[in-house]
Amino acid sequence: MARTRSTYRCAECGAEGPQWTGRCAGCGAWNTIVEERAVPARAAAGAPAPPPSRAMPIAEVESEGWAPRPVGIGELDRVLGGGLVAGSVTLLGGEPGIGKSTLLLQAISAMARTGTTCLLACGEESAQQVRMRAARLGALEPNLWLVAETDLSAILAHAGNLAPDVLVVDSIQTVFDPELASAPGSVAQVRECAHRLVRAAKDAGRATILVGHVTKDGALAGPRVLEHVVDTVLSFEGERHHALRLLRAVKHRFGPTSELGLFEMTDGGLAGVPDPGRLFLSDRQASAPGSVVVPTLEGHRPLLVELQALVAKSPLAMPRRSAQGLDSGRLAMISAVLEERVGLTLAGADVYTLAVGGVKVVEPGADLAVALAMVSSVTGVALPADLVACGEVGLCGELRQVSQMGRRLAEAARLGFRRAVVPASAPEPPAGFEVLRASTLVDAIARAGLVLGKKPVGFPRAVPA
Ligand code: TYD
Ligand code: MG
Repeated sequence: MARTRSTYRCAECGAEGPQWTGRCAGCGAWNTIVEERAVPARAAAGAPAPPPSRAMPIAEVESEGWAPRPVGIGELDRVLGGGLVAGSVTLLGGEPGIGKSTLLLQAISAMARTGTTCLLACGEESAQQVRMRAARLGALEPNLWLVAETDLSAILAHAGNLAPDVLVVDSIQTVFDPELASAPGSVAQVRECAHRLVRAAKDAGRATILVGHVTKDGALAGPRVLEHVVDTVLSFEGERHHALRLLRAVKHRFGPTSELGLFEMTDGGLAGVPDPGRLFLSDRQASAPGSVVVPTLEGHRPLLVELQALVAKSPLAMPRRSAQGLDSGRLAMISAVLEERVGLTLAGADVYTLAVGGVKVVEPGADLAVALAMVSSVTGVALPADLVACGEVGLCGELRQVSQMGRRLAEAARLGFRRAVVPASAPEPPAGFEVLRASTLVDAIARAGLVLGKKPVGFPRAVPA
């Protein structure tokens, strides 16, 4: 007699094993293994039936209708590489409350306004709640349809009847297939529902957008397979306490993944931020020590971000090293380079560093600006207001080139900056812009107008009692 075999699968990474374990051998997560009943394999029967599909020369494959159709929201279209592709499946991930439902409601109402039929299946909120929000956002469009439903078969039936061009499912974790024994949100449910939605999207040529929750550390909740079955994975990020929201493509089958979309959460929903330069620098106190502007690069998009450092005498036995919006590992490295290669004493000092405006600047190109902000804080001397700094700091105290310096400096020039401290090998700057080349961090500190003097500057090392 054929027996159904059970397999055990990790809810986080999708790794499969023959038995239940407390910890996943694949990703090391605890308590994520769940049982799955496998259907017995079909018995092999004689000669294989002719396949229903047909192989054909690549140039003969139909490509019409696969051009992206603009959504009508500039920042979203930028990230999507032009718009939504018919039959494509997009997964929008983000923390709860970041604005996923708001973004999609605005997106489908913009499309509905231009005659695209859109169906929103919401499993998280009631139809009344969504209607109220839509009214507030001015999104009550006749072509925008709504169904509060979590049963996948019902959602697909509604989609079949209405035949919308775009289907939004908010969220994939709330929909379930009653034929599967597992609970909604479980690995088996999420995976199976996603597969069925993808199949239906391809069959009907319907663009489908799924909302997905992310875990605390930013990974998409549910099995990794979700990322593999969809065409596009978008990630919506931002600090809950800041209005700024960043939209990126983590995976994109129809275009580049390097574009960044910027939004601001306002009372009237999400507003695109086509020129973020001024937004980040608007409240800057250029004359204060400890502030340096870095032309950073997000995908292909240069962003000028103010970095701040405060080096303060610490009352603690273990002084603090705080990196908000910056990489704490790189801060530790920069601190060590400043101590060993520059002679700045940081023992006994708390170091607070911050990327202003709720952005995350984790690229090595910000190293030099972080280092200069720290030196500026220690010496109490502000950097010139029209100066930016960009470069990677090496462990030997040398400055290293970063990608696309030309673009970064052009953006700095556009926003009124006139000078930049850069690695010696940096390319020629735009006209009217001065580059202060430095091959080491010590050079860079001098070129930025900061004087460390002969004696090590900073706080005296703690003397053991
Ligand atoms: P929401 O889209 O519900 O987030 P998600 O679907 O990612 O969980 O957005 C929730 C937050 O956005 C909520 O805290 C309120 C805020 N918000 C505004 O500030 N302005 C608005 O116009 C709307 C609709 C929401
Ligand atoms: Mg939501």
